[in-house]
Amino acid sequence: MLQNVADIEKEILEFEISSPESLEQFRLLYLSKKGKVSLLFDQFKTVPSDQKKEFGQKLNILKTLAQEKLTNSQSSFSNTNDDLSIDFSLPSDLNILGSRHPLSIVRNKINDIFNRIGFTVSDGPEIEDDWHVFSALNFPADHPARDMQDTFFIEKNPDILLRTHTSSVQIRVMENQKPPIRSLFPGRVFRNEAISARAHCIFHQVEGLYVDKKVSFADLKQTLLYFAKEMFGKDTQIRLRPSFFPFTEPSAEMDISCSICGGKGCNICKYSGWVEILGCGMVDPNVLESCGIDSKEYTGFAFGMGIERITMLKYQVNDIRLFFENDVRFIKQFTSEA
Ligand code: PHE
Repeated sequence: MLQNVADIEKEILEFEISSPESLEQFRLLYLSKKGKVSLLFDQFKTVPSDQKKEFGQKLNILKTLAQEKLTNSQSSFSNTNDDLSIDFSLPSDLNILGSRHPLSIVRNKINDIFNRIGFTVSDGPEIEDDWHVFSALNFPADHPARDMQDTFFIEKNPDILLRTHTSSVQIRVMENQKPPIRSLFPGRVFRNEAISARAHCIFHQVEGLYVDKKVSFADLKQTLLYFAKEMFGKDTQIRLRPSFFPFTEPSAEMDISCSICGGKGCNICKYSGWVEILGCGMVDPNVLESCGIDSKEYTGFAFGMGIERITMLKYQVNDIRLFFENDVRFIKQFTSEA
């Protein structure tokens, strides 16, 4: 029996493991359940008790020898495998870069256009109170925007709500800064509207405000003409139509000549040659006074536009919902513009 152990030990030492296949052969031959070492363990029972101690020790040494040989060879194969499988001359995996969202691209462009004529960017909270969204902006008590049907309220009495327009930031800025004020407020706004291809309950606006001595409607018109040409191309024309907002007097809506058909008429401009892009007007004296600004000394203009609308016109996107789905196949199309 001891002779048998010595023979197997010799075999193990001499066994040449030169490939993963021979490694597996080695494992099966000696260490598997039916392997030679395991069989010796089975025979252990039959060894006379006075020889058990010596035999047991030899057997353990044999098993350790076989196991060490197996693990050493295993690690040497896996190492060489790794080294051989990496081809350092291959091109590396492409790093997939993210891209800017089209709304961010357009917002940055709007900021940039107004920065060039001295407008700085400010922001205000999305969760607002009645004063900043309605009352200070001269909304009468029974205005429909104060209704639950149009506005998302968080609390009633005192009213806490999601701002329905960025005009609330006009109030925050005028309460805290002295004129001259020349600021731009981009931000997210919320309205209780059914979601469709043209409308969403969450969207983005950019508000502009200029308050100083002797600011006139002509200043407003020139500023907006400059913006329209920078945004939609130098041949763009603008048209101001009388309108109404509680916080501006006089108020207007601005159209630009259709950038798609150049004014000839198409389905984007509903064959009129013009598309509406923003609301604007001279800041109502009541609003200036609400913020502690003397309306006899100062005048101002304000305008507000929807970023989704501008983006849809500029890039001919026909469904507003695409902006909120974050499908990379859509977003990637704007990469070169960033
Ligand atoms: N707040 C108006 C809206 O959401 C837009 C606007 C801003 C109009 C500033 C006039 C002046 O429709």
